[in-house]
Amino acid sequence: MACLFFAVSCKSQKGTTGTPDRYNTQVDSVLALMTLEEKIGQMTLYTTDWESTGPTIRKGYQEDIRKGTCGALFNSHTVAFTRQLQDIAVKESRLGIPLLFGYDVIHGYKTIFPVPLGESCSWDLAAIEQSASIAAAEAAAAGLHWTFAPMVDISREPRWGRVMEGAGEDPFLGSLIARARVHGFQGDHFNGTDKILACVKHFAGYGAPIAGRDYNTVDMSERTFRDIYFPPYKAGIEAGARTIMTSFNDLDGIPSTGNKWLLEEVLRKENNFTGFVVTDYTSINEMVNHGYAADDKHAGELAANAGVDMDMQGAVFQRYLKESIAAGLVSEKQVDEAVRRILRIKFELGLFKDPYKFSDAQREKAVVFAPAHLQAAREIARKSIVLLKNEDKVLPIANGKKIALVGPLVADRNNLIGEWRASGEGEKSVSILDAFQERAARDGFTFTHAKGCELTGDVTTGFEEALRNAQTADIIIAVVGEKWNMSGEAKARADISLPGMQEQLIKELVATGKPVVVVLMNGRPLTIPWIAEHATAVVEAWLPGTMGGLAVADVLFGDYNPSAKLTMTFPRHVGQVPIFYNEKNTGRPFDPNNGYTSRYLDMPNTPQYPFGYGLSYTTFTYDSMMVARKDYSFSDTIIATVNIKNTGSVAGEEIVQLYVRDLVGSVTRPLKELKGFEKIKLAPGESKKVTFKLTSKDLAFYTADMTFKAEPGAFWVMVGPDSERLQKKEIRLVQ
Ligand code: BGC
Repeated sequence: MACLFFAVSCKSQKGTTGTPDRYNTQVDSVLALMTLEEKIGQMTLYTTDWESTGPTIRKGYQEDIRKGTCGALFNSHTVAFTRQLQDIAVKESRLGIPLLFGYDVIHGYKTIFPVPLGESCSWDLAAIEQSASIAAAEAAAAGLHWTFAPMVDISREPRWGRVMEGAGEDPFLGSLIARARVHGFQGDHFNGTDKILACVKHFAGYGAPIAGRDYNTVDMSERTFRDIYFPPYKAGIEAGARTIMTSFNDLDGIPSTGNKWLLEEVLRKENNFTGFVVTDYTSINEMVNHGYAADDKHAGELAANAGVDMDMQGAVFQRYLKESIAAGLVSEKQVDEAVRRILRIKFELGLFKDPYKFSDAQREKAVVFAPAHLQAAREIARKSIVLLKNEDKVLPIANGKKIALVGPLVADRNNLIGEWRASGEGEKSVSILDAFQERAARDGFTFTHAKGCELTGDVTTGFEEALRNAQTADIIIAVVGEKWNMSGEAKARADISLPGMQEQLIKELVATGKPVVVVLMNGRPLTIPWIAEHATAVVEAWLPGTMGGLAVADVLFGDYNPSAKLTMTFPRHVGQVPIFYNEKNTGRPFDPNNGYTSRYLDMPNTPQYPFGYGLSYTTFTYDSMMVARKDYSFSDTIIATVNIKNTGSVAGEEIVQLYVRDLVGSVTRPLKELKGFEKIKLAPGESKKVTFKLTSKDLAFYTADMTFKAEPGAFWVMVGPDSERLQKKEIRLVQ
């Protein structure tokens, strides 16, 4: 039967995401018509069985849609498929409530951008927002309403495979990026057809699993949680994210999916989150394995009572919630609240007015893989590439050089688009080989290419050809890294060095005495001490997306001067992990002349490459920084300035960074915390003054009594090109 309530629901659909509250009456009018089964149906999310041959949905699920016992689906996209499913919901279910279609659109839908960790190294918030916005436009054109992104989990754990999905280790930068991504996906409203719902995930603390193993226990102090891990979730909520996903892990003994403190206190009461909370995949059921619930039914009760609104794939609400309500273990009021939140968002999206709003085959054809999107993907990939080393200015490659391209990722297209590739098609991406061939034809040079070895395994038979090519070249470009699916969910590695025989290949290439440029493609920080010392140049390209090969070539040939800086520390050795820039001083800070200070016997404490680090083809000098004065009251603005000059011969961009240190606190404070940055562009010889403004709010933290405030006293304000090379001035905050 067609929709019973269209008359009540279709008025005033102007819809801004945050605007109350014309939806309330509409939502209530729908709720009043619903049976308990239909209400629980709105709280139920199932996946389709998308296969390589095409989309399918289990018979049982179709029946659920028809009966109104499933209100949302994921892994269902394309106009044709979503329309087919929406038809069942709207035309065949009793109330005709439209379905919500979700999908993991993490770094692009078809046009794939660099993996989010790579993209974060651009520190370019406008570019990051643009990539999310393009992803939303393509996804919306393919019938989708909802992305399970952004992942905003802070992580200090390069072993954890999901760092590729995040924005690195820093809460300040991570928060700005969370905001940019949420806004890119959602915009200010859902009036048009190019924005989709964002889902801030994974709430909470998922990026800190013990030993870096995915899904593992998370145990941290509430202070660390609030100071370091929580800010990006908060930023996402403040940017208007309409949905939040719980995480798989437990936090201080309580699984997030059953954690009332997290969902009701922190999220809803303290942070006024008004959207709905969805679980991660079967994370309700997993509370049984956690040893927190006796069985699925019990787990469902814990989740519902903790404030979960929607069960992803667990079928627990569908199976047991009615029974739990009858037994008085969950209240129907709680269920009504959850359904209200979900229906409201369907109204905000405009789905009651037009359930097919996002299903337009013409638009899908025009928007997906649009040339402007590909161009943006190329530009953002260039901005994400970090130059880690460039001895003798071997890069950019000078004209007329004989080039040997070597390595398992030279000709590869599929790896470029990384994990969580949504609907991306590896074969449609541009490899480094493709890009070199295009350039060679245009600019009239020749080069050789050889694979050398595979990404994994111990076969070295390809070395011979690679070395033969290398012998006759002037410069060797070795493209190595991780397989696309060595990072991502459930892809933890205990050894984060280059897999297989790749390092051996590089050693033999270096032994030829020719300059070797190592281009890395990977989804996490790697340990590369030998390469860092012996390669002539090192370029971190991450998994750069559909246009990755072109972007890498743009950098290697100097059409783009690299400007990115690391957002996650590169350790020298996995034994240093977790390693991060904002550590504390300890009572025995490292002293080279005292063995009883905090140190390793077998290696320095310092990382291979610190947070914030990255080079350019030009050089920048920093004059002495200035602060306006020494003493500031709590209502003053602290102003720090520094002049930067481009002292090289090409134009370049520099990410100027500002850190602070609170010298004495009611609790111990980090040695440095990023509190500002500016990306400036300078012509050769040009100088620019950069001005940073801080208020006492920027100096606030969770103090001994857990209030969030700044404390009076001395601070260092520090400025520099990365988190290590800093100059400082002392200031005082006075009451
Ligand atoms: C992941 C989520 C993802 C979900 C749906 C889970 O396994 O942890 O990040 O959104 O699957 O695909």
